[in-house]
Amino acid sequence: MDVVDSRVERILRAAASAPSVYNTQPWQVDATGSAVTLRADAARQLRHSDPHGREMLISCGAFLFNARTAARRDSLTAVVKILPDPDDELLVAEIEFEPGPAPNMDELELSVAIARRATSRVPFDDQPLFTDVLMSILQAARDEGAELRLVQPSEPVREDVIGLMRRAEAIAAEDPAARAEEKAWTATDPGREDGIPRDLLGPAADDDRAPVRRFIASTGKAQFEERSTLAILSTAGDSARGWVAAGQALQHVLLVATTYFVHASFATTVLENPTTRHDLRRVLSLDGAPQMLMRLGYSSMPEHTPRRSVPLKVSP
Ligand SMILES: Cc1cc2nc3c(=O)[nH]c(=O)nc-3n(C[C@H](O)[C@H](O)[C@H](O)COP(=O)(O)O)c2cc1C
Repeated sequence: MDVVDSRVERILRAAASAPSVYNTQPWQVDATGSAVTLRADAARQLRHSDPHGREMLISCGAFLFNARTAARRDSLTAVVKILPDPDDELLVAEIEFEPGPAPNMDELELSVAIARRATSRVPFDDQPLFTDVLMSILQAARDEGAELRLVQPSEPVREDVIGLMRRAEAIAAEDPAARAEEKAWTATDPGREDGIPRDLLGPAADDDRAPVRRFIASTGKAQFEERSTLAILSTAGDSARGWVAAGQALQHVLLVATTYFVHASFATTVLENPTTRHDLRRVLSLDGAPQMLMRLGYSSMPEHTPRRSVPLKVSP
């Protein structure tokens, strides 16, 4: 294996620490020299909650952004063709890693943040985000062709958003297939390399007005902060290309947040139900389609969720 190959292997390992729905890690990669193909792994798709593969492609988009970012640390530039085959939506991207300039400070900071980022499902400090963080994450989303709508604690529409989250969760709780999918991927056995272990699910909120997702297997209850920032990521398009863009924007936002010691948790059931997703778009008067909903704030360092080793086919 030549020098570029071993760098590519390192880049792909870093990329695999991307967030994914229920930690399904729905990606497959194939590397030949410095060329990589990234495919969505339909066997890991949530057939019921994610029938069109939207969340699967968001997860792959986050992987792709990590790959681009990790490459810069090694002075490589990723030349990316997104969805190069119109007849094959599972082929997310073809990536060629080429020699590039040395990374600047921002690139270096982002690449270091890859290994530090993790979802935090515990109560945050009761403190909205500082303005410099807000400006930076808004720009990060825009850089990837998406928009971030912030919902601050003082905004009356926050109650509407949380009301829709509760409605979607109540409907899902009555749906045996949605429950079965959640059970298959949460409170997973120790030693499993995918899914979310029970101790990382976090406590349930003791108050229905907290913008926190309640998992079937959540252990205990806790009082959550009142003044976290909510953020809804949206894209103009709502097809495969929009979902990959949403994933790249998500990861750019999360890595920038990480550089400011800001953590995120998600509550995306509201986006899995077409009716509540539509209502969310309406109450927020979004121009685009909502793709992710997150709560952002300051907390202790979260623990890392396990990963599979990258299912990498390295061709000579
Ligand atoms: C499309 C998508 C949807 C997600 N939805 C939720 C959610 O509703 N609740 C939650 O706690 N985490 C959610 N997550 C976060 C994943 O559970 C998390 O990324 C995964 O378990 C890996 O853990 P890590 O982010 O700490 O690396 C979501 C992530 C993605 C990419």
